[in-house]
Amino acid sequence: MARKIVAGNWKMNLLPDEGYQLIEDLSNFCEGNKLDNVEVVVSPPFIHLAKAAEMTAHSKLTISAQNCSDQLSGAYTGEVSVEMLKAAGVNWTLIGHSERREYYGDTDEFVNGKLKRTIEAEMTPVLCVGEVLEDRKAGKQEEVVASQLKGALAGFSADEVKNMVIAYEPVWAIGTGETASPEQAQEVHAFIRKYLTQTYSAEVANAVSILYGGSVKPENAKEIFGQPDVDGGLIGGASLKYEQFVKLIEIGQ
Ligand code: G3P
Repeated sequence: MARKIVAGNWKMNLLPDEGYQLIEDLSNFCEGNKLDNVEVVVSPPFIHLAKAAEMTAHSKLTISAQNCSDQLSGAYTGEVSVEMLKAAGVNWTLIGHSERREYYGDTDEFVNGKLKRTIEAEMTPVLCVGEVLEDRKAGKQEEVVASQLKGALAGFSADEVKNMVIAYEPVWAIGTGETASPEQAQEVHAFIRKYLTQTYSAEVANAVSILYGGSVKPENAKEIFGQPDVDGGLIGGASLKYEQFVKLIEIGQ
């Protein structure tokens, strides 16, 4: 059965001290509450990661990176390798977020290479997929997501895919306040589950957690998280605010 996961993507927000305070508060919340049914993950910017991982080494709160290099090491200015993330105590990373794809050229090939590095390093990757508004309006969301999955997952075995998490993030819902309806989210999540069943097996499809991301707030999370193929959320703006993120954790259980 897929794990319930509530993950926060901080993007390029919170200065270190603000971030450490939020991590301390969330870690205390996780310790003080019975969270047997949900995995809580936060993805701070790179600069926070080493200290954040140290702060949460014995906590139920999981620290994730937002990106990693598709290279192992070498002359790749600005990049961070999976080996460096592991050495810092970080075992999760987002990969292929739409903002990486849009602004920084993360192609399916790049995403596939990054996934390979994370699986080799025995990390947990959160593979982000989702369509832009033009494709949604043209009814091409399933075609786009299938193409992204095909490109990202090329060459991986069923056992390797089982260890991945997938986040469906309709680009038109990210940061816009225009959340996908529960029905729209469920439709694509069910499509992703079907794709995994047909490409790998029902066992793989049922093991992979499929998260929804795109303007998730405490006001809309209950209906979305309650959909049969939604296993939790990947939250941006609302993860930066302790009170909101805690409410989403409670809803996501
Ligand atoms: O990765 C999660 C993010 O893209 C969603 O952002 O602010 O719409 O919750 P937001």
